[in-house]
Amino acid sequence: MNPEEAGARIVFALDVASEGEARRWVEELSGCVGVFKVGLELFIRCGPAIVAWIRERRPEGVFLDLKLHDIPQTVGRAMEAIAATGARWTTVHGGENPTMLKTAVEAAAGRVGVLAVTLLTSVGREHLRAAGYRSLWAEHPEDLVVERALRARDAGCAGVVCSGREAARVRRAIPRPFLIVTPGIRAAGRALSSEDQVRVMTAAEAIAAGADYLVIGRPIREAPDPRQAARRLAREIAAVGDDLPSPHQS
Ligand code: C5P
Repeated sequence: MNPEEAGARIVFALDVASEGEARRWVEELSGCVGVFKVGLELFIRCGPAIVAWIRERRPEGVFLDLKLHDIPQTVGRAMEAIAATGARWTTVHGGENPTMLKTAVEAAAGRVGVLAVTLLTSVGREHLRAAGYRSLWAEHPEDLVVERALRARDAGCAGVVCSGREAARVRRAIPRPFLIVTPGIRAAGRALSSEDQVRVMTAAEAIAAGADYLVIGRPIREAPDPRQAARRLAREIAAVGDDLPSPHQS
């Protein structure tokens, strides 16, 4: 895989507060990363206009990461509105009620890919224990992630969001084209000043474990030279990603 194809595997998290800032990042990083991800903060501030603006400029489409979690009917109605924005992917929490995921997929009707969030990468064993999860899952979060990934597949989701630490288990359980999108990517040995992620991995490790796309925000945004940081990450991915299908097939 050449570094350009590898760069297409990077989903840049536009975790910024204004349309102007978002536009500057899209312009700066175009050609170095693949998909741009609009999250809650930016969407609450700018709404569908920012999705439309990026779509006009980037053929790879937009990942509208709203992490829906509500009663099935509300999620279904929200999904209709998301599909109307023309986003390529969106997210729904793959929590307790599989009906919520199924309703989301039905409402999406193939217009937008639904990715199930298995377990946030900011959640660790101690959080699961404190939340009362049975000890099997608190000690082995990867089992909980695989369980939720299987349910997401059964509900018709396009894929899951999970940490690199669980990607290999999920990939063994569910082959491609089911997508694995992995946040919590960190450069080896480089801690961030604003760290809140717990289950982290390097880009090379996550791709080698079976991830198709990597969500990366701060390691690029906070780098002294963001384009160079994105290119370095793409080279890391290229070094391990030879047997990946082309990003345009997934
Ligand atoms: O690389 P960085 O930690 O800055 O990336 C943070 C981004 O990853 C945020 O946009 C966050 O919403 C997203 N994310 C995450 N954990 C998940 C799903 C998405 O951190 N399970």
